[in-house]
Amino acid sequence: MNFDFIKGKIKNINIKITESFNKLPPDKNEKSKNYFFRFRRYSRLNYISKKFTMDPGSDFYQKKKMNRYSGGKIRRFASIDKKTLNHVIELIKKNFVIFLNPNKNYKFGIHFLRIKCGNNFVGYPVPEGWHKDGFDFVIVLNIISKNIMGGTTRLKTNMNLDKKDDFAEFLKKGEFIFFDDKKYNHYTDPITIGKEKKKSFRDTIVITIKTSN
Ligand SMILES: [Fe+2]
Repeated sequence: MNFDFIKGKIKNINIKITESFNKLPPDKNEKSKNYFFRFRRYSRLNYISKKFTMDPGSDFYQKKKMNRYSGGKIRRFASIDKKTLNHVIELIKKNFVIFLNPNKNYKFGIHFLRIKCGNNFVGYPVPEGWHKDGFDFVIVLNIISKNIMGGTTRLKTNMNLDKKDDFAEFLKKGEFIFFDDKKYNHYTDPITIGKEKKKSFRDTIVITIKTSN
C-alpha cells in the first residue's frame, strides 16, 4: 500500500502482552551511567500466503551504516515466548495487515522494549540517534508509559535542522505510528523521571516489516 505514515490507536491490548514487559531481560549492549536502561526481547515472524509462522532465530544484525551505535555486530536477544507471540500475531492480524499489500509475503521483526529512567540516570529509547531501520515499514506501538517526561516520537524526511519534524507526538497507551521506513528517519526523545518518586519506564513494541518473496 502507498502511504507515508498512519497514526492509530488499539483499544484492547491483551493483558498477557502488557504483563510480559515485566519480565524483559536487560540488553547488555547498552548502559546509562552504569545502569542498564534498556530491557528487551525479540522474535521474528514470517507471513506467507496470508499465514503467520514463527521464525526460531533471534539474531539481530544491522549494518554499521544503519546503526553507528551498535551496528556491525550480531546482537542476540532473548526471544518472546510462544503464547505472547501468538497474541502479537492476533494483534497484527486485527490492526496492521489491512495496511499491507494482500498479494505480497512479509517478514516481521517484533521487538519488545522497556526503557527505564531514574533519579540518577536518563533513559534513551534511541541511543543511536535519528535513523532508519533498513526495512520497508516500521510500527512503533506504545503499550504503557509510567511517570516519565520526554519520550516524544518523531519522524523526519529531511535531516536539515531548520526543517520541522513531519511528525512529533508523545504516543499514549495503545497509540501507534506506522510509517514508511524508506522515506522517514525516526527518533524518540530521551526520557527522564516524572514528578512521582516511583518506578519510571516506557514500554513499546517496535515492529519492522519487509517484503519477502
Ligand atoms: Fe529504529
